[in-house]
Amino acid sequence: MKKLTIPDIIKRKGGEKLTVLTAYDASFARLLDAAGIDILLVGDSLGNVLLGYESTVPVTMEEMLHHARAVRRGSSAFVVADMPFLSYQISVEDAVRNAGRFYKEAGSDAVKLEGGAEVCDAVRAIVRAGMAVMGHIGLTPQTAANLGGYKVQGKDADSARRLLADAKALAEAGVFALVMECIPDKLAEVITASIAVPTIGIGAGPACDGQVLVTHDLLGMFDKFVPRFVKGYASLAPQIKDAVSAFRDEVRSGSYPDAEHSFAMQLDVDKLFGEKG
Ligand code: KIV
Repeated sequence: MKKLTIPDIIKRKGGEKLTVLTAYDASFARLLDAAGIDILLVGDSLGNVLLGYESTVPVTMEEMLHHARAVRRGSSAFVVADMPFLSYQISVEDAVRNAGRFYKEAGSDAVKLEGGAEVCDAVRAIVRAGMAVMGHIGLTPQTAANLGGYKVQGKDADSARRLLADAKALAEAGVFALVMECIPDKLAEVITASIAVPTIGIGAGPACDGQVLVTHDLLGMFDKFVPRFVKGYASLAPQIKDAVSAFRDEVRSGSYPDAEHSFAMQLDVDKLFGEKG
């Protein structure tokens, strides 16, 4: 499939829905690419899903770069890399430098950062430096503790108004697309109609211009915690456990490997080594 460009993505506003899934390594990236997913997101959710952290806060630039490079090697699709916590908040210079590392060291096509009006200076500076930024508002996992935990955002009038204002500020600052996580469907609809760039929902209802999910959730591979908005399109965790248990049992019983999975010796071993070897 031909890689989308930023204008291609923006043109999809109000048209065919954009599909976005997380990818953290080359083999998954190859599969998602082959399935025709529009955008691969190297999400900092890899901290929870792959690295066993309790949140995305500990994820480092080096960890993100390591996975972003692997995804690039596995796919020629449009790749967005998540900027980890404190890689863009300390100073605008830091934000540009770290965004640039994803471009120069990992071949990413865009970066994503979390936050509203407070990150607009960083967004403007990264865009001015020639890079593309995807925004992320609503439930922003890096600062979930300040939001009262992993909860739906924008339920009261003040926070709904603030989210709309944040979306407009980010669009004005130059984001090419905006992730909206865990907000009521009607608010997502209003925001989608209010900005000129595509909105990508995750727990934000059907009115968004596209949808994103964590691939391991969609495949039923990460059973530690499954948010309500996740639809499981497969249930691979039990299948993986069954396959691994079958391997364990066959190795212990000696039925694996059998002749079909072994290499037959063509030479006469007794002649070659003598009867005692
Ligand atoms: O880190 C991530 O995977 C994300 C998506 C869930 C939007 O930010």
